[in-house]
Amino acid sequence: MHQTMKAIVNRQYGAPDVSQLTHVPVPEAKENEVLIRVHMSTINRTDTGFRSAEYVISRFWSGLLKPKNPISGCEFAGEIVAKGKLVKQFEVGDKVFGFTTSNFGAHAEYLAVAEDSPLALLPIGFTYSMAARLVEGAHYALNYIRAAKIKEGSTVLVYGATGAIGSAAVQLLKYFGATVTAVCASDKIEIVKNLGADEVIDYQRENYAEKDKRYDLVLDAVGKSSYREAARVLKPGGFYTSTELGKYAQNIFLALLTPLFGGKKVLFPIPKLTQRDVNWLKQVAEEGKFKPLIDRQFTMEEFVAGSVYVESGQKTGNVLLKIE
Ligand SMILES: NC(=O)c1ccc[n+]([C@@H]2O[C@H](COP(=O)([O-])OP(=O)(O)OC[C@H]3O[C@@H](n4cnc5c(N)ncnc54)[C@H](OP(=O)(O)O)[C@@H]3O)[C@@H](O)[C@H]2O)c1
Repeated sequence: MHQTMKAIVNRQYGAPDVSQLTHVPVPEAKENEVLIRVHMSTINRTDTGFRSAEYVISRFWSGLLKPKNPISGCEFAGEIVAKGKLVKQFEVGDKVFGFTTSNFGAHAEYLAVAEDSPLALLPIGFTYSMAARLVEGAHYALNYIRAAKIKEGSTVLVYGATGAIGSAAVQLLKYFGATVTAVCASDKIEIVKNLGADEVIDYQRENYAEKDKRYDLVLDAVGKSSYREAARVLKPGGFYTSTELGKYAQNIFLALLTPLFGGKKVLFPIPKLTQRDVNWLKQVAEEGKFKPLIDRQFTMEEFVAGSVYVESGQKTGNVLLKIE
């Protein structure tokens, strides 16, 4: 095996051009880890969020003054090429996909992760590019769906249904039997209908908050709405949740305060992801019930341009990063 590998490295926080394509040593698999030859990754809002550290709070995970794990990347699909002596569930040659925000490192030719981390075998019939985009958006979506205790017959409005989170949310909500109203731009209505949305609202022509329908959950998947607006269309006891902190970080305070008064509530769940969740996503993908949207694909040499595009907030679903 090679001694060094190509990797995208962030030695500091900042604008997209702090990311550099460089050569670094290949990691070694510890006794409980597998070493994966990564073939496909994504550039996503988790990557750009941690790189910019725009929300200072992210530095409590990733390092206060500079990234403690400089190789970026959280989503991956590839093949196991070595394993530690305690690893039982996976074999060399297994094709796997997963997610790593404990140490990041997926924007590199090789990645070492613990065998009990969010890691699973590729869904049957899936390529690396299909599997690499299964987790990032979907696990946030799942987190909101679980927090709001969505069940068969719940009514949900997904604001921003064309992002990685929103497009996963529409499909997973349908899987759980919810009735889904999706909000998107005019040119994306067909895409969103194909995800399974029962009703689509074009945000360029109508304001969802001025319509008559009432919801158990308003999931703002792009952080561009507000509780004040959404509360108008929530049922009594309904929930509002958002992917962003909101103006003056209001969503955190509202999540603490609204439960004290009964009635409508704001939820701000901390994202969690287990290996069981990744296996569940694999199963739903194998059943054909979850097909993550794909937008563009970039190479490692084009990484900075890819980050600029992702950060523009205009991608449709997921952006792939091919690891040569
Ligand atoms: N800090 C973190 O670690 C982190 C991690 C993940 C996600 N997030 C946040 O989660 C949010 C979603 O991320 P994502 O990756 O799922 O989204 P994304 O892929 O960046 O998607 C944005 C999508 O939303 C649509 N959109 C933009 N403005 C809209 C509006 N006013 N109403 C409805 N749709 C609109 C865009 O299409 P059009 O422009 O055509 O409408 C685009 O398709 C972002 O706000 C992101 O910052 C944060």
